[in-house]
Amino acid sequence: MPSYHRLGQVPAKRHVRFQVGENRLCCEEVFGTEGFAGNYSILYHLSPPAQARSIEPVCSTAPEPWEPGAHRHHHLRTSRLRAGGNPIDGRVPLLFNEQVTISLAVVDQPQPYFYKNGTRDELVFVHEGTGVLATQLGEVPFRPGDYLYVPRGTIQQLRFVGNRGRILAIEANGSIDTPRRYRNEHGQLLEHAPYWERDFRRPDRLEARDDQGPGKFLVHLKIADQVYAYRVDHHPFDVVGWDGYLYPYALSIHDFEPRAGRLHLPPPTHQTFEGPGFVVCSFVPRQLDWDPEAVPVPYYHSNLDSDEVLYYVDGDYGARKVEVGSITLHPRGWAHGPSTGAIDASLSRPRVTDELAVMVDTFNSLRLAAAAAELDDLSYLRSWDVDR
Ligand SMILES: [Fe+2]
Repeated sequence: MPSYHRLGQVPAKRHVRFQVGENRLCCEEVFGTEGFAGNYSILYHLSPPAQARSIEPVCSTAPEPWEPGAHRHHHLRTSRLRAGGNPIDGRVPLLFNEQVTISLAVVDQPQPYFYKNGTRDELVFVHEGTGVLATQLGEVPFRPGDYLYVPRGTIQQLRFVGNRGRILAIEANGSIDTPRRYRNEHGQLLEHAPYWERDFRRPDRLEARDDQGPGKFLVHLKIADQVYAYRVDHHPFDVVGWDGYLYPYALSIHDFEPRAGRLHLPPPTHQTFEGPGFVVCSFVPRQLDWDPEAVPVPYYHSNLDSDEVLYYVDGDYGARKVEVGSITLHPRGWAHGPSTGAIDASLSRPRVTDELAVMVDTFNSLRLAAAAAELDDLSYLRSWDVDR
């Protein structure tokens, strides 16, 4: 996590009586992951956070798998995905395994309920749209290019301006964090890290709501893939103060300092986050390999111990024939690399790129979800053909 943060009113000591207003006794909540050994924050609520007037099952979000019949590379043209739904139930799973689920949402509706993912950290990449990630720990304004980190247990409402947006959602069965190698023993980001504490935008305003009413507020709690509807009597954003190390934040992909070298640098150079069984890398506009003899596109490789997912956000991706919004999946085993002609073309181009892409590499094999079948571009397999 970035660092200790404090917002609103908190008492001088932990676990003591704390009153606000006209002798309103606050309810203290220790909000943490990984038992009592991980990061945590201490929150002060106006109402008991455990209260619920009714609880009912809603639905399962378990992805329906698609078996394409052969182990092969894929190009998913997500520009064909129709708009639909709010930032939570509009998420369409495309790729998944037991550790991570990757979904896309084309938002055209407001989120009418509050949402709490009880078992999975979320990393939401905002491709299009601006707005506010509202949570019980405060508000995080967002804009295109932001990674929104939402620790499990956060109650959230993603509010898009005009109810329009496009997001890539990564759900992890565990904790998402900055790579360990970027931090010193105290947790501070090291000088060689590609971003700094100043780049992390923390919650900046508490709503501290005190609205009440029998069953007035609806919270959807997701446990694994099952969603439950909790009707509660108090506004979920009733926190008057908190402090600690666990909280949602935004980090812009545009604040990732580009990595460049005389010769090609491999993807771990561009790593941004790590999660259970996967890494997230950011390919950002940068100078390319400047040695006169350098080949400034990636070499062929078979990634024998990972499946590689790339989401193309903006710019021109020189190595491959894809479009903005494309997702490529290069599963382990068979080689992939520059499309036919891409190496020749790269040698005569200026040594800069405006590409913007998010990569997710998973160590366990990914499965395709049903929606991927309609987006799959079979002609992608022909992109390495050589006509002689
Ligand atoms: Fe690759």
